[in-house]
Amino acid sequence: MKKKTLLFLVASLIFSSQYALAQHHDDHEHTPLEEEMEHIGDAWKLVRRAVRNPDQFPAAAEQVEIMIKHAKKSIDMEPSLLAQQEGDAAKKKFIEGYKKGMKHTVSLLEELHAALKAGDAEKASATIDKINDARKKGHKAYKPEDED
Ligand code: HEM
Repeated sequence: MKKKTLLFLVASLIFSSQYALAQHHDDHEHTPLEEEMEHIGDAWKLVRRAVRNPDQFPAAAEQVEIMIKHAKKSIDMEPSLLAQQEGDAAKKKFIEGYKKGMKHTVSLLEELHAALKAGDAEKASATIDKINDARKKGHKAYKPEDED
């Protein structure tokens, strides 16, 4: 086979596998909880940008309200990993822990909202750290590993 043809073949193979991967990602069916989490994640990005500037606190507070709405809805949803827990006791423990984590996150978001409304930058920043910790812990315990 000519070198050029071989190069072309290799290049198209790489290209098509990348394309297939991208397609696979887009085709992935979102669970209702994933949809809620996506709203929470999008608003969170805006919050973290806006809190750097006290002029943006009112805008950040609005995004936190959006997060609270979706986080409250998430409390009564089931993580996809629930199905993999074996036995009733393990399932119960899993869902209770998940709900507790989400409820705690809602109360932290309410604290953040109050700090932003009060213009308290220090409290807002400390609460943001706590929310990030809750997110990390929640994801480690209840979210499938191959996602962010
Ligand atoms: C501000 C805090 C949080 C943010 C910004 C956030 C964001 C996200 C994002 C972007 C995803 C991926 C969605 C997708 O795959 O399309 C996700 C998934 C997930 N998150 Fe969160 N999250 C937060 C807090 C939490 C907490 C506290 C818990 C648990 C107590 C949690 C549990 C989960 C679970 C279980 C999934 C996978 C969904 C499923 O199993 O169907 N998250 N989150």
